[in-house]
Amino acid sequence: MVYITRREQFNAAHKLYNPKWSEERNNEIFGKCANPNWHGHNYHLYVTVKGEINPDTGYSVNLKELSAIIRKHIIDKLDHKNLNLDVDFIKNVMPSTENVAIAIWNELTPHIGTLGCQLHCIKLYETENNYVEYFGG
Ligand code: NI
Repeated sequence: MVYITRREQFNAAHKLYNPKWSEERNNEIFGKCANPNWHGHNYHLYVTVKGEINPDTGYSVNLKELSAIIRKHIIDKLDHKNLNLDVDFIKNVMPSTENVAIAIWNELTPHIGTLGCQLHCIKLYETENNYVEYFGG
């Protein structure tokens, strides 16, 4: 079994704000991320898949095909969008890095199977210092 990773990126806006809480409480927990008029991040997405090597190609997955699937199902839906409002598969959850990574996993999983490999990890950087890894389950 070999693990291989494709990196993509997207820019998106969001805010972290819990309407059940006071403004003070939101500011205390979320800081600048609670800004009412949104803010943006340059997200870096690492999609790791695992598979066996095809002896005819030496590849475990065709990265061109993997990239096309990530772009069609994830990047095109997230890039330059508002994660609180615009994305059909991130509705009704706080668009934290954790929740966005899980939503990406769920959205991508059925399509990865068509490539003859399995999704292993979604790694999502919200800033260069903060990232989330999700391995499913
Ligand atoms: Ni933020």
